[in-house]
Amino acid sequence: MPTITVINGDGIGAEVIPAAVQVLEALNLPLSFQSAEAGFATFERVGEALPRETLALCEASDAILFGATQSPMSKVAGYQSPILSLRRHFDLFCNLRPAQGNGLNVLIVRENTEGLYSRRERVEDGGSTAIAERVITAYASERITRAACEWALKRRKKLTIIHKANVLKETCGLFRERAFAVTAHYPELIVEEGLVDSAAMHLAQDTLNSDGSRYDVIVTTNLFGDILSDLAAGLTGGLGLAPSANIGANGHGVFEPVHGSAPDIAGQGIADPRAAILSAAMLLDNLSYGEQAGHMREAARNTTHTGSTQATTEAIIERIV
Ligand code: IPM
Ligand code: MN
Repeated sequence: MPTITVINGDGIGAEVIPAAVQVLEALNLPLSFQSAEAGFATFERVGEALPRETLALCEASDAILFGATQSPMSKVAGYQSPILSLRRHFDLFCNLRPAQGNGLNVLIVRENTEGLYSRRERVEDGGSTAIAERVITAYASERITRAACEWALKRRKKLTIIHKANVLKETCGLFRERAFAVTAHYPELIVEEGLVDSAAMHLAQDTLNSDGSRYDVIVTTNLFGDILSDLAAGLTGGLGLAPSANIGANGHGVFEPVHGSAPDIAGQGIADPRAAILSAAMLLDNLSYGEQAGHMREAARNTTHTGSTQATTEAIIERIV
């Protein structure tokens, strides 16, 4: 029986993740759940954001359902965002971020292990200069493009490679070159490319014109994918409806809503649970429960959130069972 490790995290994570678990439980599938802790509150209590016991539970499970954790804006000695640690630990190179609505139907496939998230930052000149190294490798560029091509085959067979190679000639240049090299093995696909700034404009424009979706699958580097996926979420119904999956080579996955821990509304029972529920649907897909995942998706997308986490969750469950 597949085991799912459930990590609420901070803030509204403790509201939306239990809601998603309620929906999963209502499906009566042979799944077992174990909960584990991580996040800023955990860090403040035990000195570690992702305790060893949590990692051990994650290692011994088939999928991880993750809420959100608070990321302080400035450096806190010893603190590192647990989602970044999980991505690194399990080498979850593929971040899938679908967005659908308002004329858009796009899957952003974000490289999840390197780029500007390589953690190679330093200060020089006594603190007056700060430098970040953006690491792009042929290996990571090729494997993320391969994953994106496979997804495009299952969708509308169109892939757009998004970069900024006109300025970042070496890093984006390598990403672009390796991405095109991979797509050469997928003659069934229509392959296009675009610059990240104009892609942002086109995403916005496509919703305004509702002239159908220019994009089907987008493959891009880490930070560009982070930003474009929030944009796509905002354009298609907001972060309340934006799920994501972080998948590794062996199929191991962490499933999390795109939204953060929203400390401003935490504890009031008003957080929108649909992004977490849609993330749980991606988790079911990954465990080969595609049919049930489809039901969950449909129910969540057809339910409006009117302000109560519990009421929305119950309405969704009612639509499914
Ligand atoms: C996301 C988040 C994370 C990221 C943060 C919390 C580290 O914004 O999953 O999109 O930047 O990847
Ligand atoms: Mn983000």
